[in-house]
Amino acid sequence: MSSFRYQFVVALFCGIVLEGSLSQAQLSPNFYAATCPFASNIIRGVLFRAFQSDSRIGASLIRLHFHDCFVQGCDASLLLDGTSTIDSEKGAFGNNNTARGFEVVDQMKAALEMACPGIVSCADILAIAAEESVFLSGGPSWPVPVGRRDSTTANRTLANQNLPGPTETLDGLKAKFQNVGLNGNTDLVALSGAHTFGRAQCRFFIHRLYNFNNTNLPDPTLDTTLLQQLQALCPQGGNGSVLTNLDASTPDAFDNDYFTLLQQKKGLLQTDQELFSTPGADTVDIVNLYSSNQGAFFQSFAVSMIRMGNLSPLTGSQGEVRLNCRRVNGNGISSVFNGDDMVSSM
Ligand code: HEM
Ligand SMILES: *[C@@H]1O[C@H](CO)[C@@H](O)[C@H](O)[C@H]1NC(C)=O
Ligand SMILES: *[C@@H]1O[C@H](CO)[C@@H](O)[C@H](O)[C@H]1NC(C)=O
Ligand SMILES: *[C@@H]1O[C@H](CO)[C@@H](O)[C@H](O)[C@H]1NC(C)=O
Ligand SMILES: *[C@@H]1O[C@H](CO)[C@@H](O)[C@H](O)[C@H]1NC(C)=O
Repeated sequence: MSSFRYQFVVALFCGIVLEGSLSQAQLSPNFYAATCPFASNIIRGVLFRAFQSDSRIGASLIRLHFHDCFVQGCDASLLLDGTSTIDSEKGAFGNNNTARGFEVVDQMKAALEMACPGIVSCADILAIAAEESVFLSGGPSWPVPVGRRDSTTANRTLANQNLPGPTETLDGLKAKFQNVGLNGNTDLVALSGAHTFGRAQCRFFIHRLYNFNNTNLPDPTLDTTLLQQLQALCPQGGNGSVLTNLDASTPDAFDNDYFTLLQQKKGLLQTDQELFSTPGADTVDIVNLYSSNQGAFFQSFAVSMIRMGNLSPLTGSQGEVRLNCRRVNGNGISSVFNGDDMVSSM
């Protein structure tokens, strides 16, 4: 099961995807070949060091890419801090006190600015860091299309509208994926598989534990043994920030156990379990496939990550390459290194 094999399979798919419906996006895995050939290695190096003190960092970083792409496209709008003109997305419900890893993105950006100043966008850093996080955790590797540029705007209202929440119905999840241009079956199920690693706070699933949907009973689709463990961890009126593993079986490994847990009613979030436990849903067969065939999951995951990474990128001379991921560039600085020559030569 070498990563090389997965990468090869996915490269073929990637070609089809880029030739097809998403052909307007001018992203390419070779975009930095001449201007910053070691960009991925630099990002991987910073990530590897961060992993030494924080086993969760890879999960946190792929989530940043997701929360970036769902809000005005993959343009690093999520990374902008608030100012008088920037209503930071970091304050949105889906991000406030939950999105994390921003300091590590800053470290990646600083390392890249040392090696190739003004070249690698913050939006591409998130896309590459997401792939490296999966690969370093035992998951598939894929060629990451790059060449995104960074926004000069953010939109918290849109973040509140577009990011799916943990009490969403399956129909609601499908609608939010379809709204940004992904599908509500393979994209939704495969990408939800990212919950194979990382943590979640009690406040995001406590509604399942005591009085689900005003029934005065726990969520019937939650395994009773796991229920008791979670009730002990998350007492009513307790600390809603306490963390537990999204994947109780292999918490830090990127594998297909997440789907097997769903078959056992051991999904942590309501939205995880709905993929398998919603009667008649078209997602059930996909969960069963990925549970029985890790290779099928890895291949779908890579394809859907590329599709998510292609959501409305800024390219060419749109936006800018931020020098600091937390703020838009100052007067004239961005035009010195705007990367236009690269785009026209692709
Ligand atoms: C389908 C709709 C989704 C919902 C409702 C959802 C919701 C959540 C919630 C509530 C958490 C816990 C956050 C916390 O406790 O601080 C979480 C964590 C996480 N999510 Fe999702 N998510 C969804 C899809 C995705 C997708 C598409 C990805 C990536 C491709 C993803 C990656 C992650 C990761 C890796 C974590 C753990 C982060 C960490 O440990 O810092 N999620 N998600
Ligand atoms: C984010 O959470 C903090 C509490 O930690 C709160 O003070 C702040 O108002 C929240 N931000 C927004 C925009 O709701
Ligand atoms: C933010 O998004 C909302 C919802 O789509 C939209 O109505 C609003 O015009 C956007 N605001 C800015 C500043 O772009
Ligand atoms: C919650 O209850 C309402 C009706 O009371 C029902 O329509 C809805 O499907 C239920 N949601 C879940 C997740 O069971
Ligand atoms: C709540 O739990 C979090 C995570 O374990 C911890 O950092 C925080 O200090 C706790 N807060 C209180 C008030 O105990």
